[in-house]
Amino acid sequence: MAVQTPFYFYDLELLENTLQALTDAVPSDNFKVHYAIKANAETRILETIRKYGLGADCVSGNEITKALECGFDASEIVLAGVGKSDAELNTAISNQIHSINCESIEELEVINEIAEQNNQVASISFRINPNVDAKTHHKITTGLSENKFGIPISEVSRAIAEIRKMPFLSLSGIHFHIGSQILSMDPFVKLCQQVNTLLDEIEEEGITLEHINVGGGLGIDYLNPDQNPIPDFEKYFAVFKEHLNLREGQTVHFELGRSVVAQCGSLITKVLYVKKGATKNFAIVDAGMTELIRPALYDSYHEMENITADPLLGNDNYSVVGPICESSDVFGELEMPITKRNDIIKIKSAGAYGQVLSSNYNLRDSAVAYYSDEQSLNVCIGKEQEALA
Ligand code: LLP
Repeated sequence: MAVQTPFYFYDLELLENTLQALTDAVPSDNFKVHYAIKANAETRILETIRKYGLGADCVSGNEITKALECGFDASEIVLAGVGKSDAELNTAISNQIHSINCESIEELEVINEIAEQNNQVASISFRINPNVDAKTHHKITTGLSENKFGIPISEVSRAIAEIRKMPFLSLSGIHFHIGSQILSMDPFVKLCQQVNTLLDEIEEEGITLEHINVGGGLGIDYLNPDQNPIPDFEKYFAVFKEHLNLREGQTVHFELGRSVVAQCGSLITKVLYVKKGATKNFAIVDAGMTELIRPALYDSYHEMENITADPLLGNDNYSVVGPICESSDVFGELEMPITKRNDIIKIKSAGAYGQVLSSNYNLRDSAVAYYSDEQSLNVCIGKEQEALA
């Protein structure tokens, strides 16, 4: 019997191919890639990523706990976030993670206190706001002065002076993250230039850092997911290889989320009704912004395909909408084969910031996940049974 829609379907073969391409593209041993757990925190996804030797980038105490449970080593976990609670800092420090990315001078004092209570010296990176425009959607831009993230470059000297007074902290690195879904390499080149200038300044203070963390942000092809399922990791790493002036022994860390997991996940939903509106046809599906909020939140485009339609029937235009009581609950407008009740629509490129951002608004059930090595999509949607009958 077909499983209940809506559900997430993860293609583990594509995930592994993506991870293989990523690890093959890493140009040298001093390039360390962390996976940004916030993009997708499913246990099976994390375990698969771990197999390829990536570290973990966390933004909460629970993400640290989850990373440890899924086999990530504490020495390969970093914690970022503008508002870390004392309990979260305690989780980071008591587990002796690789680095806490500190986002303000105010936070330093708190970390110092918690490190003292744990009788430890915590390894700190300064998250710097480099004021580089990532040229992406304004809601996922993080590296501009007006954004809440990081310590302004102009405050770095003061931050160094402060950390020098704190015996339970040791400054080991600097951290940046300029935004997400970045498709042009230019912002990353600009970031490298800012990092180089700052490295010189920090060296003048007599400090040599162990690591430079340049964050994540590499975008994916939402427009042509089937033709272009794996991002160009080589081109991306080459930018940093060419433009960063690393010192002897320094490592460069990356925190990639979307580019690792976005294309392997789809949201599978069933058409409940096809309704003729006054100006257009609505295909009302059983998934909504509660399962995938990206179109409502960022006007994001996700390619959709009616995978059960008969292409011989011809096409029509549809507005694909969910059942939630919000006018922003729209997945997109498209031309697709004539669509009817019970057809199945695949919403693609939903593996990153999809399931993790879902909610139970309207008291809806949570969508479950199925994996390609356990069940085929055909079985999930009941097509195989149909063929056997
Ligand atoms: N590092 C930090 C500090 C971050 O804040 C993020 C993402 C990443 C790494 C990973 O970035 P990625 O490689 O995935 O671009 N919900 C939005 C995206 C928000 C990104 C938040 N930070 C969306 O659905 O587009």
